[in-house]
Amino acid sequence: VKTTVSVIKADIGSFPGHSRTHPKILELAAQRLKEAEGKIIIDSHVTHCGDDLELIMTHTKGEDNEEIHKLAWDIFMECAGVAKEMKLYGAGQDLLGDAFSGNVKGMGPGVAEMEFEERGSDPVLIFMADKTEPGAWNYFLYKIFADPFSTSGLVIDPSMHQGFTFEVHDVIEKRRIRFNTPEESYSLLAYIGAPSRYVIKYVWKRDGTIAASTSTQRLNLMAGRYVGKDDPVMIVRAQSGFPSVGEVIDPFRTPILVAGWMRGSHHGPFMPVGVCDANCTQFDGPPRVICLGFQVSNGKLIGPADMFDDPAFDRVREQCCELSSMLRAHGPFEPHRLSLEEMEYTTLPGVEKQFKDRWEDLPE
Ligand code: F6R
Ligand code: MG
Ligand code: MG
Repeated sequence: VKTTVSVIKADIGSFPGHSRTHPKILELAAQRLKEAEGKIIIDSHVTHCGDDLELIMTHTKGEDNEEIHKLAWDIFMECAGVAKEMKLYGAGQDLLGDAFSGNVKGMGPGVAEMEFEERGSDPVLIFMADKTEPGAWNYFLYKIFADPFSTSGLVIDPSMHQGFTFEVHDVIEKRRIRFNTPEESYSLLAYIGAPSRYVIKYVWKRDGTIAASTSTQRLNLMAGRYVGKDDPVMIVRAQSGFPSVGEVIDPFRTPILVAGWMRGSHHGPFMPVGVCDANCTQFDGPPRVICLGFQVSNGKLIGPADMFDDPAFDRVREQCCELSSMLRAHGPFEPHRLSLEEMEYTTLPGVEKQFKDRWEDLPE
């Protein structure tokens, strides 16, 4: 039988403000998943990145399974109830519907899933981010699976030599396309370099074996107004024909700028941190990413290993702090603040409405 790894997340309330989840919520979610082990799921792990509650589950039911999604949805609803009792901030904010309708997609939570035949040994890395958007993974997925200057295995390991296939989703037009690398890398980059619109959903080996899966939900597009962000998650398989664990995490030593900081309206450096530092404090950020490493063994999650809790990532964290100061100095100016086009999906339209009648046409 094949094993499925499902990572389903939601911001169901946090404290103080949008900075971190509450330990009571984490405990409750972990307990509910434990109760489901041996029944609906095989194994589970609960964690958080900033204000996002992350449910990691293994099972044999495949992607988009109703029972699994309902389990997650019910846990989010129950946790939102507890969050409301504590008057946590933004309690229930990512739960857009009241009634579950078979799949959490489109209802607020973010979902990344993959089903695979377990290899003799199957290292899996799970990335979870706060204060950014799904397209934040684009740069890293390209580096991991298509850049030979980053992943030397693409050159050295014959089993990776033929390259990978990327599936890209256009989250505005709701369409998808596949590109093969290395031969179509430039075309792939033409799209994924615009990560607010084009998001890598899957990466496969050229023989169709799944390598990576991300969440592509854009909460603000779903709700049609600003209801919080779509802080993304990603699952990546490593070793033996895939990039090694080290090749997967090394690109995160580059401090790139991503969208989604403060009010979902600012660019900020993407800071890799250990779980103990996965709290969005400075200016509600900066955007943070954690990575938990597991060996998946007959559906059991052996781990986790907290991959960025490592002095080797101290330097990028320093660089992120420097970049953060540089950007913060811009105050409400671009490029710290998102471009007008991106602001369309956040709060600016409210301000525009207010001054709609004060604008006058310029004389010819
Ligand atoms: C939420 C976030 C925060 C909030 C900000 C304002 O994930 O990024 O920066 O947008 O704290 O929140 P409200 O409008 O709820 O006071
Ligand atoms: Mg929040
Ligand atoms: Mg969040």
